Amino acid sequence: MAYETIIVDVEDHVCVITLNRPEALNALSKELLDELAEALEESQKNDKVRCIVITGSEKAFAAGADIKMMQDKNFSEVFLEDLFTNQADRISRIRKPIIAAVSGYALGGGCELAMMCDFIICSDTAKFGQPEINLGISAGLGGTQRLTRFVGKSKAMEMNLTGRLMEAEEAERCGLVSRVVPAKKLLEEAISAALKISEKSLLTTMAVKEMVNRAYELPLAEGLRFERRVFHSLFSTEDQKEGMAAFSEKRDAQFRDR
Ligand code: CAA
Repeated sequence: MAYETIIVDVEDHVCVITLNRPEALNALSKELLDELAEALEESQKNDKVRCIVITGSEKAFAAGADIKMMQDKNFSEVFLEDLFTNQADRISRIRKPIIAAVSGYALGGGCELAMMCDFIICSDTAKFGQPEINLGISAGLGGTQRLTRFVGKSKAMEMNLTGRLMEAEEAERCGLVSRVVPAKKLLEEAISAALKISEKSLLTTMAVKEMVNRAYELPLAEGLRFERRVFHSLFSTEDQKEGMAAFSEKRDAQFRDR
């Protein structure tokens, strides 16, 4: 499918989706979010794809929801059209692993999109923030909820209330990102992580994604029970037999997603 606001490239089991509205620092317009949701759903269906990377440009992962698109909207319009709900739900329903590769600005909806991914690798130039307060609104795609779970109440409250941006080093220190890499190597590092994930059993990577995400939704006892049961169920797969046989035979496992 031809897209106007994103570039989709599938190679070696990895789908790289590049947000591509350079004139607006990849601001998340309705069209971009619709196309992104569509491309992710296509990747979910495409048997060749085993891991997805979402990235932007060197200057901006995404500078937020498109302010010009929202400027003239009133409450009844955004409420009735349920602004962002459809796309956010579609993105959150993707079951294959998604890595955000963030360089430059990840602000407002951009920071929130990165947090919707399964983990974030960022460049040393990355800047995260929830500056919606400066526009007279709040975050609306997870900036008060996911950010609080990732970095704790104090930092999340400060960022949401003051609009302060967080640099890469601080983002790594407080657990918002998994790793900081030099800007020039960002995509290479993200793809290399995606390729590692692609070598595993897709059954297992999809199950693990679901299990870790449950940690944000369930009380600990329920989460541990869920984890134990899924762990048990993975013993019913051919890939468990293959993985353990390969270990014993000192060779690489050949997973078949069964
Ligand atoms: N929406 C629409 N257009 C945007 C945009 C956005 N979020 N961010 C940047 N742009 C546009 C600018 O209007 C500008 O376009 P023109 O050349 O046509 O004027 C172009 O991108 C380049 O931007 P700047 O000239 O501002 O670039 P800069 O380097 O001087 O500043 C910046 C960069 C600090 C990121 C600044 O652009 C900025 O503050 N952007 C807005 C950030 C923001 O408030 N994000 C939150 C949006 S609301 C939201 O996301 C709600 C939600 O939770 C869902």
